[in-house]
Amino acid sequence: MMYKEIQSEKVPALGLGTYRLTGKDCARAVEQALSIGYRHIDTAQMYGNEDEVGQAMQASGVDRSEIFLTTKIWPSDFAHDRAIEKTHDSLKKLRTEYVDLLLMHWPSSSVPHGETLEAMRELQDKGKVRHIGVSNFSPQQVEDAAHHATIFCNQVEYNAGRHQDAILEQAQEMDYLLTAYRPIARGAILNDATLKEIGESHGKSTAQVALRWLIQQEKVCAIPKATSEAHLKSNFDIFDFELTDAEMKRIGGLT
Ligand SMILES: NC(=O)c1ccc[n+]([C@@H]2O[C@H](COP(=O)([O-])OP(=O)(O)OC[C@H]3O[C@@H](n4cnc5c(N)ncnc54)[C@H](OP(=O)(O)O)[C@@H]3O)[C@@H](O)[C@H]2O)c1
Repeated sequence: MMYKEIQSEKVPALGLGTYRLTGKDCARAVEQALSIGYRHIDTAQMYGNEDEVGQAMQASGVDRSEIFLTTKIWPSDFAHDRAIEKTHDSLKKLRTEYVDLLLMHWPSSSVPHGETLEAMRELQDKGKVRHIGVSNFSPQQVEDAAHHATIFCNQVEYNAGRHQDAILEQAQEMDYLLTAYRPIARGAILNDATLKEIGESHGKSTAQVALRWLIQQEKVCAIPKATSEAHLKSNFDIFDFELTDAEMKRIGGLT
């Protein structure tokens, strides 16, 4: 495993995304992921699977302190009291005393961001939330949010076909984590000829190159979603090779 150092905290660079993983499939995939060695799990109140994620973490036997667990509040629940109530619900479902990272899932135009961030800070003061972050925020929105709380993360869509130069630059300046969601573009980049060619030279698949390219960047981690054990395993098998500077630049130049 590789770790990203953010504000003196070490975050596992590769996590498991769980959007559209539900019911038994979700519990099985999360438990399998933890047994493979994943120590970073991404869920959200909107995914309707916190209960299964919690069950799987408990069944895995992995110590809670070893897992970096993220959940997210949906914008319709951004009002102060509602955000607190929904996070307490999450903790119950996840069978844990705290989450490592709580995110605002999308920006809102109806509730001022400061109101939600204030609620999140109260949760943080009570030890229910270790770090506060946002998702799908523009650099300007992150800057505004930082007036209300220390922002640990901005989770955005980032992959070889969807670049995020401004957010990447801001993450490096402000020392926050850029969590790359949809890191393999839900499969859309699996046939890319450049990724394929680079993969062949390392004995790795296209998906492995796409993931390695992300986690090899400063302040970036990636959270691919996978259901089958084969995908879970192969996505995790990216710590035994390194892309050269030229390969990093070549992938960075893809559109
Ligand atoms: N903050 C947000 O607004 C937001 C939005 C979207 C996503 N997310 C988070 O980011 C996570 C990842 O994004 P995503 O699920 O949209 O897309 P993704 O991770 O880019 O792609 C997932 C798809 O790729 C397949 N796949 C996984 N590993 C593979 C491999 N090695 N080879 C071939 N195919 C493979 C999966 O199939 P199988 O499932 O069949 O294995 C699934 O269909 C989500 O689960 C969620 O946690 C956050």
